[in-house]
Amino acid sequence: MCGIVGYVGSAKSVEVLLGGLRRLEYRGYDSAGIAVIDPEGAMHTRKRAGKLKMLIDDLDGRALANGSTGIGHTRWATHGGPTDQNAHPHLGDNGKLALIHNGIIENFAELKRELIEQHPDTVFTSETDSEVAAFLVGFEYQETHDLALALRNVVARLHGAFTLLVLHTDGPGVVVGARRNSPLVIGLGDGENFLGSDVAAFVEHTHRAVEIGQDQIVSIRAESVTITDFDGNPVDSHEFEIAWDASASEKGGWSSFMAKEISEEPEAIAKTLLGRITDGAVHVEELEPLRDSLAEINRIVILGCGTAAYSGMLAKYAIEKWAKIPVDVELSHEFRYRDPILDEKTLVISVSQSGETMDTLMAVKYAVDAGARTLSICNTQGATIPRESDAVMYTHAGPEVAVASTKAFVAQIAAFYLFALHLAAVRDTLTKREISGLLEELQALPDQLATVLEQHDKIKELAGWMVDTSAVLFLGRHAGFPVALEGALKLKELAYIHAEGFAAGELKHGPIALIEPGQPVFVVVPSPRGENSLHPKVVSNIQEIRARGARILAIAEQGDAAVLPYADVVIPIPLASTLFEPLLAVAPLQIFAMELAAAKGLDVDQPRNLAKSVTVE
Ligand code: F6R
Repeated sequence: MCGIVGYVGSAKSVEVLLGGLRRLEYRGYDSAGIAVIDPEGAMHTRKRAGKLKMLIDDLDGRALANGSTGIGHTRWATHGGPTDQNAHPHLGDNGKLALIHNGIIENFAELKRELIEQHPDTVFTSETDSEVAAFLVGFEYQETHDLALALRNVVARLHGAFTLLVLHTDGPGVVVGARRNSPLVIGLGDGENFLGSDVAAFVEHTHRAVEIGQDQIVSIRAESVTITDFDGNPVDSHEFEIAWDASASEKGGWSSFMAKEISEEPEAIAKTLLGRITDGAVHVEELEPLRDSLAEINRIVILGCGTAAYSGMLAKYAIEKWAKIPVDVELSHEFRYRDPILDEKTLVISVSQSGETMDTLMAVKYAVDAGARTLSICNTQGATIPRESDAVMYTHAGPEVAVASTKAFVAQIAAFYLFALHLAAVRDTLTKREISGLLEELQALPDQLATVLEQHDKIKELAGWMVDTSAVLFLGRHAGFPVALEGALKLKELAYIHAEGFAAGELKHGPIALIEPGQPVFVVVPSPRGENSLHPKVVSNIQEIRARGARILAIAEQGDAAVLPYADVVIPIPLASTLFEPLLAVAPLQIFAMELAAAKGLDVDQPRNLAKSVTVE
């Protein structure tokens, strides 16, 4: 939430900052602003409520003096509505200092009271917690004349989560940042350096990045980078190569990032499997730090939010079936507030596309403190959650820019399945032959999914017909249940239509009362093949609701004749065994939600009220 970019170098910083903000806008789009110091050492700022385009239009009409040092911000509002005044940067030290902030300063009201007592002339122009920080750093600077020290003194008094970047006209050529529980990475250039909420902020300029640890302060200049802890002691840092190219976060010829990202799902699965399967067995080097633990654990807890949590539900089914270890799946924000019981025999797996979701980060920290072993499944290099975990298994979906998660979801499932099969090998719960057979099925999925995506136009047409629908239900059983939940979530967040996902077996325990003539219901139908197939039960559920007038939109295996008489529309998917079906069945629901939203004229990449990386609790 909130995108942050900082730059020092010889390029024109306004262009660099706007380029960074364009790539970070998915993190929040309530307002945007920049501050630059010109060659004469004067501060220039501009900020506008609304999407980044409002700021860009404003700058086009009235150019801002350029300079080679600057900061930029795109906001997801927390304290104070999305107005020009509440947009960042905020100023301190009589306009000589500019500050941007991501996160929440929990004790800002108390700090503001103190500030007013000590400096009664202070005039606040916004309702934000961030402006308090700007004034505090300004007053500290007046005492210390050292921007890094001033920031250190202030962060020592802040409670909550924050990334702060500051610059001061006394020090053109330096941007100072601080982070606690909120993301910040460094980009290393040639005669220029960058800061960003994530590497997307600067990937078009450099592929060299450095992680910044928890509670650290960083100062960037054109030729140097200094990192210390909050006490001013130098710290070691870890440099890494950004694994994707700037073009990966461009829309290309697609109508939206989401359309592009759905089209990349086969590749996201293939890349997540790449190099991790050899000779019919799983080899994931990243799991080495957990080598001993994996044989000893007696329980797994999976933590995530939203779409990521649904991938965790599928992981539970796979791990319990293949590796025979009990698994609980919990929403991260519920988990740590209910005194969960954990010990060193519990493996806590967090799953997060961004690797920054505050709820999940806090739950992981709780698990670490409770002595559990921790594994992060994450899509973003340099993110915080992997750093806090014993091991990380990256998904290789590439940057996901659309706010609603699509390709990251299928990549998460693929990574979980690899992990489950690795665990089955470690614990000897499946034979080598069984594992190799399942891996073959997993490897066949990218091609199978590509054939599902060929039905895009047909699904678009369906969405077009349903543009006036006010409620849609989604049903599934077993592995189809998380798919139903995900289908409903996508429709809610993109098309603002009331949507609910149910386990089909639960219908008669209440939800069937919602069925009235014409009610559209998507049903994820399991394969009729296999001994214990739930197919007959789901077909019975379909008959029950059809008898009450529901319109059935079935996602069913190719050639499933039993569904045809009861379905108004059938979207066929290729043959796959039960646990692999979700990877084929979810794309039609993603496409449906996206196309319905587009038909309603909505912004599918940036739905209202949302932000991609939820870094507040
Ligand atoms: C829905 C969606 C969210 C995220 C959730 C977790 O389309 O994107 O539900 O899945 O906010 O985000 P990450 O995976 O970044 O932890």
